Amino acid sequence: MKKQNLTITGGGSTYTIGMIMSLIEEKKTFPLRSITFYDTDAGRQEKIARASEIILKEKYPELETVSWTTDKKEAYEGADFVFVQIRTGGLKMREQDEQIPLRHGRVGQETCGPGGMAYGFRSIGDMIDVVNDIRHYAPEAWILNYTNPAAIVAEALRREFPEDNKILNICDMPAAIMVSYAKILGREIWDLVPEYFGLNHFGWFTDIYDKEGNRLTDDIKRAITEDGFIPEDSEIVNDPSWIKTFKQVETMLSHFPEYLPNTYLQYYLYPSDMVEKEEIDNTRARQVINGREKRVHTLSEQIIEDNSTENVELEVDIHGCYMIRVAASLAYNRGETYIVIVENNGIISNMPSDAMVEVPAALTSRGPKPFAVGEIKTFYKGLMEGQLAFEKLVVDAWYEQSYDKLMQALTLNRTVVDAPAAKAILDDLIEANKDFWPELYRSRQEAV
Ligand code: G6P
Ligand code: MN
Repeated sequence: MKKQNLTITGGGSTYTIGMIMSLIEEKKTFPLRSITFYDTDAGRQEKIARASEIILKEKYPELETVSWTTDKKEAYEGADFVFVQIRTGGLKMREQDEQIPLRHGRVGQETCGPGGMAYGFRSIGDMIDVVNDIRHYAPEAWILNYTNPAAIVAEALRREFPEDNKILNICDMPAAIMVSYAKILGREIWDLVPEYFGLNHFGWFTDIYDKEGNRLTDDIKRAITEDGFIPEDSEIVNDPSWIKTFKQVETMLSHFPEYLPNTYLQYYLYPSDMVEKEEIDNTRARQVINGREKRVHTLSEQIIEDNSTENVELEVDIHGCYMIRVAASLAYNRGETYIVIVENNGIISNMPSDAMVEVPAALTSRGPKPFAVGEIKTFYKGLMEGQLAFEKLVVDAWYEQSYDKLMQALTLNRTVVDAPAAKAILDDLIEANKDFWPELYRSRQEAV
């Protein structure tokens, strides 16, 4: 098996240590020759990278090199795979994305509704730059992108790099949900074969089978209805916010029992409840700053101080393992099935062919080979078309620097609906994002 050179873009992320633990866990699945961290923030990355180096020395001695850099050439030359996890504006801007809509009585969420739009508008330009940089130094590398909001980012990359078939956008939410199904069934997630369709953070499991072909869907639904639904992945298992989110699946299933929903549908189906549950001074970004970010930094400092991992507890999470298994299936032509984001091209026969959809695909060295979904029913199609129009309008607006299209996008979004609310939120978002967003114009070409 060829050993891979991996670059992690956004090396300073709070997810990096978890990814490192997953790379160690999966070293037989996806053996590495080198790991290179790349980040634009040298200070933030250094702490995480130094701690990672110590972990890797202990637990992955066969790895030849671990390095970190802020230089693009060093980062990408010779890379076989690049995992991209950037967050333009950081958690500070995530907090703005959450608080601004809430002030107007609307859902404040990282990837859904106005927050997702704002974050998308910050991410698109940086993501295009990242892909151009990678292609300059590593024309053949696989780019696995899990930068959010994945739906909007994937649509922008589709338009910007139409010929590039080695960019794959992925989200770990379906997998994180499947970890809970597996627990319910007393199985391993890797034994489960999902049937799923949707847009990113906007989809449904229509069925779950095991590898022998047994249908497990009804057992899962029954268990959720009778015993409830909780997160099981190590990263979120004890997190009150994620516990609430998984609980909401019970409600969704009671109202819409046909399919098993992605947790993110809660924001679109229960927007008022979601607003009510939020505290504006303690939105998710604040919780992550005080929780995961602190934890990862303290843990890294401890590792560096001890020059060992003896005094810390390190855990493998599904986010990392999923990405790594996806990468391995692409690298070694394994043809395993994973849920990924791809251009529709007839997969869902009654949705536009240029939609970026989230579906299971066999991953081969020639790329993802998605399975046909066929026609979807009216309810799901209706919901998805509205959401897709929102996503398309956001990307149109970015290219055209159009205020009017953002106004249309927000008004269309199920979490906003009222035009005056859309306008008020949009104007606040423009102000908060002036260091990040392109300048916007009305159709009359007058600056806003
Ligand atoms: C899931 C989603 C990601 C999202 C993350 C946020 O993993 O798939 O797209 O970024 O949740 O989690 P957090 O704990 O930061 O709110
Ligand atoms: Mn996601």
